[in-house]
Amino acid sequence: MKVKKAILPVAGFGTRLLPASKSIPKEMITVVDRPAIDYVVQEAVEAGIDTIILVTHPAKQAIENYFDRNAELEALLEKKKKNDLLQQIKQIIPEHVTVVAVRQPEPLGLGHAVLCAEKVIGDDPFVVLLPDVLVDSSDKNNLAQMIEQFEQYQASQIMVENVAAERVDQYGIVRLEEVDGQQSNNILELVEKPPINEAPSTLAVVGRYVFTPQIFKYLHLTPADRSGEIQLTDAMAQLLGEQKIQAFTLKGETYDCGSKIGYIKAIVHYTLKRDDLKAQLMDFLDTIK
Ligand code: G1P
Repeated sequence: MKVKKAILPVAGFGTRLLPASKSIPKEMITVVDRPAIDYVVQEAVEAGIDTIILVTHPAKQAIENYFDRNAELEALLEKKKKNDLLQQIKQIIPEHVTVVAVRQPEPLGLGHAVLCAEKVIGDDPFVVLLPDVLVDSSDKNNLAQMIEQFEQYQASQIMVENVAAERVDQYGIVRLEEVDGQQSNNILELVEKPPINEAPSTLAVVGRYVFTPQIFKYLHLTPADRSGEIQLTDAMAQLLGEQKIQAFTLKGETYDCGSKIGYIKAIVHYTLKRDDLKAQLMDFLDTIK
């Protein structure tokens, strides 16, 4: 069965980006000229996803509006003959892609957010993309590669990236199997945000997952942690007893737009990729070096 559905949990308050996120959903904060979440949705669409499920909150309707048509704006751009802009806003979501929204009624964590989309997923395999993290793949779209691995090995796939030892307590951390002294991609252990001295490695889960619907069974069984949240990592750790989970090592770069410095780096990175803006930004950076 092909992987066609994606869950994007967007209900969180974004406390790391306050005060801006008080009234702008953090996923809508602009990176160059598009909201951060647009990059994530394009990544999913490029990987073959045709159903985007936003798990959202009543205060964050700006996200749904962004992915919806705006007939009034389209008519205005048409009247003013701004055809380039008109095409751009019409193409935000290609015709074959559907965006649906479900609500997360209470802030009970990432695992709970994924559970909120269970009925829309049904018996299909699916991906989860955390929209805080922008992934710029250095070769072929990494998510597309993860889906290929999933289809080939029938094993869930988790994207991982090596992080500095002092940051392991901000991520889910995995331990991989060693075969003849070499690391394989089979995950043996998963821990959510371990203290620095207890982390089994420095390989961090960075927000891209491919799952079979079996994960829902374990999400239902996972108790809330000390902070009252149901962790996706804890459910994956239970799933390991039934199913293989493989690590997919990121080939490229990630930008954590949920943090101030990550967001600033993302703006610089994606501006430098733009032919119309790169030279001007480089000139400016030269003046402040
Ligand atoms: C979540 C996950 C964590 C993962 C991280 C990646 O944590 O729970 O396992 O490593 O995203 O960004 P959060 O950043 O939402 O606290």
